[in-house]
Amino acid sequence: MSSPAGDAFRYAHAHSHEIAWLSQNTNHLVPPEVVRGALEEAIRERRYEGYPLASGDPELLDLVTADLGIAGIRPFLTGGGTESLYMITRALLAPGDEVIASDPSYLIIHRFVELAGARTVNLDVYAPPYHLTPERVQEAIGPRTKMILLIDPLNPLGSGYSREEVRGIAEIAHDHHVTLLNDVTYRDFAERPSLAAEFAPEETVTVWSVSKNCGLAGMRLGGFSARPERLPAIARYNTNDLGVNLLAQVAARAALRSKPKWIGEVVRQTRANGARIREVVAGVPGAALPVYPSQANMLVIDVGATGVAPEAVQEALLYRHGVFVRAGNYLSPRHGGRFVRISFSNPPADIERFAKSFPEEMRRLSAKARVPGVPAPTAP
Ligand SMILES: Cc1ncc(COP(=O)(O)O)c(C=O)c1O
Repeated sequence: MSSPAGDAFRYAHAHSHEIAWLSQNTNHLVPPEVVRGALEEAIRERRYEGYPLASGDPELLDLVTADLGIAGIRPFLTGGGTESLYMITRALLAPGDEVIASDPSYLIIHRFVELAGARTVNLDVYAPPYHLTPERVQEAIGPRTKMILLIDPLNPLGSGYSREEVRGIAEIAHDHHVTLLNDVTYRDFAERPSLAAEFAPEETVTVWSVSKNCGLAGMRLGGFSARPERLPAIARYNTNDLGVNLLAQVAARAALRSKPKWIGEVVRQTRANGARIREVVAGVPGAALPVYPSQANMLVIDVGATGVAPEAVQEALLYRHGVFVRAGNYLSPRHGGRFVRISFSNPPADIERFAKSFPEEMRRLSAKARVPGVPAPTAP
């Protein structure tokens, strides 16, 4: 069955060379030389003909451990962080269990929670400080709570947690013996990232990915890291018994080896793009950024005051300008009807296409949406 989102993706993939891909928080700023040589060599040697070492390339595992920088936790490789999220929820949750989470959130995780028969308790975070707080988590803890979902920085809002906030939530997980699922997919974009595993090493399972920081989303490689004694219970649900994609491991190893050399420039350009987007949004009456600056590589643009539906913005930008942003409904049951999400680890030319098309389309769509007699919104 087709859906507007499915249609948009089909269209965008069919026209991928002409699309400014600002829709999936992917990273298009990592210099291609970072992985090209390693991949070419692996292909020349036809390494893809054999299976990888099932437990993962040893150097890659060491690089992941060093990258997280927490002693005593061990990584497990999966097909993207997504597979880890599925395995963790499947393994650690049972029918009737509750998971403290947020709205907005990366709702795919919530779906996995439901597949395990558990449910999420979604705290509304579409108001300052735009993320969970230790106080609200403490309040929400109940007899059925088995897990806290701490996505830091948070997709889609781009809000990040301070070290004290991470510590506070980790201490709650520790005191109540509940698992802290710390999804740190966007950690490299944050100014001062902290890992919950530092504060609650026994309760925390850290999910990481090379999709966004290393610009390898298409490779589908990520994983989770936890204390060795926690690994077997989760690894029981591993479907990649013969190992995850070998070429993905080769690329991730090359990228992580050299990350300290190039990540600074990737983050600098990402932030500069974020600043440009802010300038553009400030010039559009009724549009606003709830969170700025982003601690990740995405922002939410609230268009609620304009009366324009986010789906209409997505559609107009994609089909009329080849600029692909996402309507918020897949990220927030409560507030998705008022925002679009834009990601921006992209070449500045992509951002300029947004800068040209967004004000133009918002003018056109606002005029169509305007109720007669009601004045147009003014710029914030
Ligand atoms: C918070 C969060 N976790 C996990 C993922 C999945 O990443 P991966 O590509 O590693 O499966 C995403 C992807 O957008 C995400 O936003």
